[in-house]
Amino acid sequence: MTETLAQRVVRWQREHGRHDLPWQNTRDPYRVWLSEIMLQQTQVSTVLDYFDRFLVRFPDVAALAAAEQDEVLGLWSGLGYYSRARNLHACARQVVDLHGGAFPRSAELLATLPGIGRSTAAAIASFCFEERVAILDGNVKRVLTRALGFGDDLAVAAHERRLWDLATDLVPDAPEGSPDPGRSPDMPAYTQGLMDLGATVCTTRKPACLLCPLQATCKALAEGEPERYPVRTRKLKRRAESWWLLWLVGPQGQVWLQRRPQKGIWAGLECLPVFDSEAALPASPAGLSAQALPAFLHVLTHRDLYLHPVQWRCEQADQPPVPGLEGRWVAAGDWPALGLPAPVRRLFEAQ
Ligand code: ADE
Ligand code: SF4
Repeated sequence: MTETLAQRVVRWQREHGRHDLPWQNTRDPYRVWLSEIMLQQTQVSTVLDYFDRFLVRFPDVAALAAAEQDEVLGLWSGLGYYSRARNLHACARQVVDLHGGAFPRSAELLATLPGIGRSTAAAIASFCFEERVAILDGNVKRVLTRALGFGDDLAVAAHERRLWDLATDLVPDAPEGSPDPGRSPDMPAYTQGLMDLGATVCTTRKPACLLCPLQATCKALAEGEPERYPVRTRKLKRRAESWWLLWLVGPQGQVWLQRRPQKGIWAGLECLPVFDSEAALPASPAGLSAQALPAFLHVLTHRDLYLHPVQWRCEQADQPPVPGLEGRWVAAGDWPALGLPAPVRRLFEAQ
């Protein structure tokens, strides 16, 4: 009898996949959830350190829920995509307030929590509870569209839904005679195997088809051009914007920081005051020299931000140094622990 796609993925994962990551040898949904959120836009090698530090400070979901948002953002600092950290905190609070401190045990309920989308919910439910649900993140879309020869444009929602349905049909069967058809002990290895295949074998460029457990039946390989998949027409509309950053430095190296609004770019982070044109900058007081520093580009998901730092060296740490300017002085030793946008942190560190 020939193996199904799921059986080949499971066998390959057991023989060739990764087994040593700290969130793999556990069924604790808190750890699995934390790692999956961190891994969404960050590579494994970076996540390892942050994951350990989070667990030391917040050993369980109750500890995380009890923390102040600032501390969570501070610990997240450097991982980027700060909406993940805000959702992480909100999610921990919902688990405590609405679910009695225990993560729900189904993908359907997990997906109702902040920051947990359909694929992440399925990853947690399959790793921790062996639920027979499909994941479909960017890597897995690539593997499955190639293996199946799925050439419809994924920018069309109906096509994406169809791929979800196909992915759902492919998950491992429940063991024969099992009283619970919704679960299979093969689910953790299957889910991890698809992720590992997408990350290490079925890569965007030059997939290593010779090492792939799906090569014998892969449609894209048979057609000869795996890189044609997945098909997605709509390009992200990127906008360019320029921001002027007012960098006030006090006599003891203090910096003047403002809290960003809870919505929009760098929401909730501590930041230099932002002005959207040079003309909007306040006039520097007499006798104080303003120095324009070199502008630099910071690329966000939907935006190219050109940042223009303008530094003032203040002789006194007045409150505030410009009439009406919101914010506060932060001592030179205190900003490293705050949640700062990465380019602002780099500016400070380069000083
Ligand atoms: N990326 C997302 N989830 C992952 C996991 N569980 N292991 C490795 N990389 C991942
Ligand atoms: Fe991807 Fe190649 Fe495997 Fe097909 S055979 S799934 S293209 S790595």
